[in-house]
Amino acid sequence: MSPTTSLDLSTGTHPVLRPALEAGAEVLADITGTIPAELRGTLYRNGPGRWEAGGFIAQHAFDGDGLVSKFVIDGGTVRFRSQYVRTPKFAAEEAGKGAGVRGIGNQRSGGLLGNLGRFPADSANTHAVVHAERLLALSDAGRPWELDLDDLSTRGVCTFDGKLSPVSRFSPHPHLDPISGEMFNFGLDFAPRIAAKLPIGLKCYRVDPSGRMHVDATVPLDHAYIQHDFALTEHYYVFVLAPIIADPIQAMLGHRTAELATSYRADVGTKIVIVPRGGGKHREIDCPPLVYVHINNAFEDRGDIVVDLTRYDDYREFFDPVRDFRNPNFAIGGFASRLRVTTGDRVTVEDFTEMRTELPQHDWRRTSRPYRYGYHATVSADRSMTPRIVKIDIETGAHHEHAFDVGDVVGEPMFVPRSATAAEDDGWLLTVAYLAAEDRSALVILDAANPEKPPIAVARVDRHFFPGFHGSFTSRV
Ligand SMILES: [Fe+2]
Repeated sequence: MSPTTSLDLSTGTHPVLRPALEAGAEVLADITGTIPAELRGTLYRNGPGRWEAGGFIAQHAFDGDGLVSKFVIDGGTVRFRSQYVRTPKFAAEEAGKGAGVRGIGNQRSGGLLGNLGRFPADSANTHAVVHAERLLALSDAGRPWELDLDDLSTRGVCTFDGKLSPVSRFSPHPHLDPISGEMFNFGLDFAPRIAAKLPIGLKCYRVDPSGRMHVDATVPLDHAYIQHDFALTEHYYVFVLAPIIADPIQAMLGHRTAELATSYRADVGTKIVIVPRGGGKHREIDCPPLVYVHINNAFEDRGDIVVDLTRYDDYREFFDPVRDFRNPNFAIGGFASRLRVTTGDRVTVEDFTEMRTELPQHDWRRTSRPYRYGYHATVSADRSMTPRIVKIDIETGAHHEHAFDVGDVVGEPMFVPRSATAAEDDGWLLTVAYLAAEDRSALVILDAANPEKPPIAVARVDRHFFPGFHGSFTSRV
């Protein structure tokens, strides 16, 4: 059980931000309701589990150490386990040398020279993806960390047979093609610009079902975009490059944090880059600035490219809260929107809703293909509002909401189909939530078709942890 604290939800930092304790051995969850007999598999999650350790005090939400957790659903029971990713940052903190860590929002000790030429440390805290029998912990800051699928121990950096160099990045939002079994991703390599005056390279990665990586393309870019996600359609990688841009020289000189070396550049506008899967001539379209962080899904529609994303009116609506994450009124959310690029390079954007949500999800069997339902969360620690899971029917515009209690913190909703051949939306939404009244975390299982109804089952664990950013469900148990 986690250390007991006063759960006064009226003031102070939210209790979910207290350091999470690892569950180094499997623990059985306490179940309310009945786990559906057909629901079998493992939900992996990743997110920051602690923001203060060994002298490191994070100044940015994304500088918390990655805690990977898993919920194994099997035979009506749920087994839970969690483990921090053993990064060099984690090791430094364990050794009491956290002051020597440079983060996204932290300078390390030693002044200008101490920070000169150093990339922010990788916290490995953003996504847990399973592909080709590998469990990868991912972040924006570096290469994947491979973990053991069962005990979650850290095996080391995954280089894909040496194809990712120490300065490569492998972004935290790969997309899996449900038909080919390939995993697609990208990495923005900044360092060459300083070292060799080369353009910044947008690398397009395809990992085949056996786990072998292929570099489909390298697209030179004029700016170091802070690009978190991308879109995948049946035939293309689609990059919607919002003008959130780092000055790599400022960042590497070391006199200011990496975060402060990044700015919104409305003058640059948004650049859309469409790259054929497998490589080939790419297409670029410039359009007015559009701010977003997450893409839900994308597809081709009679030659048009359709990209569904979470749009913000102002970049500060996202980037201020993630810096100010200890604020008790923390809340973040944008508009679920559809961007369309016509065959004539016209770009339109249309909101589905006026609600503010984040962490958009869909049925992964429809990734890169037309789909109907989006599943979203409200991301908030604001005690004045009720956190919710929100389903949006894109075809009709209808909303369905499941409300949690004030003070709870809910994570990304993962859709799991009832069977491999079940219709879209016929299945369950799995979400991890921090239940404030009980000061512990739980796996909450909702009926995807009727999410507003009481949960089908809740599997409570014996400790608290932040529900995390992203994760994956696999049929493996
Ligand atoms: Fe993300």
